[in-house]
Amino acid sequence: MSKGNWLKERIPLNIEGISALLFKEEIPVHMKKWLFAMGTTPFILFPLQILTGALLAVYYIPSTEMAYESVRYITEDLQMGFWVRGIHHWGAHLMIISLFLHMMRVFFTHSYRKPREINWIFGFILLFLTLAISFTGYSLTYNQLSFWAATVGTNLIQGVPVIGEFLLRMIRGGEDVGINTLTRFYSLHVWLLPIFITILIGVHIVLIRMHGISIPKGFKKESYDFYPVHMYKIIIVTLFLLSVLSLLAVILPPGLGDKADPLNTPLHIKPEWYFFPVFLFLKWVPLSFGMLITGLAIIGMVFWPFIEPLFSKNEKTRNIISYITGSLVILILIIFTLIQTFTV
Ligand code: HEM
Repeated sequence: MSKGNWLKERIPLNIEGISALLFKEEIPVHMKKWLFAMGTTPFILFPLQILTGALLAVYYIPSTEMAYESVRYITEDLQMGFWVRGIHHWGAHLMIISLFLHMMRVFFTHSYRKPREINWIFGFILLFLTLAISFTGYSLTYNQLSFWAATVGTNLIQGVPVIGEFLLRMIRGGEDVGINTLTRFYSLHVWLLPIFITILIGVHIVLIRMHGISIPKGFKKESYDFYPVHMYKIIIVTLFLLSVLSLLAVILPPGLGDKADPLNTPLHIKPEWYFFPVFLFLKWVPLSFGMLITGLAIIGMVFWPFIEPLFSKNEKTRNIISYITGSLVILILIIFTLIQTFTV
């Protein structure tokens, strides 16, 4: 097969295709179960993050002197400020949880297979960008925990072979985490990463519409119209998510902690829970070796749709291999997260 055909099969772009893409959508019946439509959850949450983030940005001041004070003002003095901050905070956690669930559903239904390999890779880029936007956002609070998490988190970059030191200085804007790091993280968090994520979500959705949603083996090949049933369902889920976030913002509002003090290292530094597995692993092994293994594991997952067929041409054997691999990865991630949760 020529290279042109290979790409056309995966990105089938033409005028009729584009108009069908914009105006019609058939939803397979298995999508009536939300787990199968889980990708819609981050799709709903992301605009909400933009909206609440824009409101927070009205009062947030990205300077080492004022960042913590501005967050304190939003939380304690500003009318409904704690609520907007709470929704933004919990929205980020929920977005990451829903992304993991979405990936698991795509993986275990083998929906990354031909012709959807490229969309799997775009999905992974979306995951990395979402983790990056969460990391930069966490650092903006500029309290002890977030300052030291930023310091330890960026320190890991040193483990990147050859260019590690250079990258570290680029990202921090100097030797240590300080004003240059804060303004860099602020730009990344409020406009650069949101723009990239928005573009990539667009590409992801266009590719989904081009291929149609996959119908896993054993599921009915029937479908229903997007409007009205599926659209109403999305509205109901949106209202549900809003209620849950609002409740979390009130019952478990994000705290303030102590103001960042670069001269006083806290006893226990921990990143956010979604970095626990990598954080724990890198504590156990030499940094460069740990970064190499982490990098290889990530490359393996990103390119899994192309790696899996190398094991066998037989579909049943490939199914078994992918179930075992997927389950092992999830098991390791859960065990590492639990160990890190219960150790100091
Ligand atoms: C902000 C991030 C993301 C958004 C908004 C998003 C959104 C969606 C939506 C709405 C669908 C339609 C089916 C469904 O709802 O499950 C979908 C399908 C898909 N997603 Fe995502 N997704 C994101 C991230 C990811 C990630 C991290 C991966 C994997 C690494 C991924 C891989 C895929 C694939 C391969 C499909 C096609 C599945 C099929 O046809 O059955 N996506 N995505």
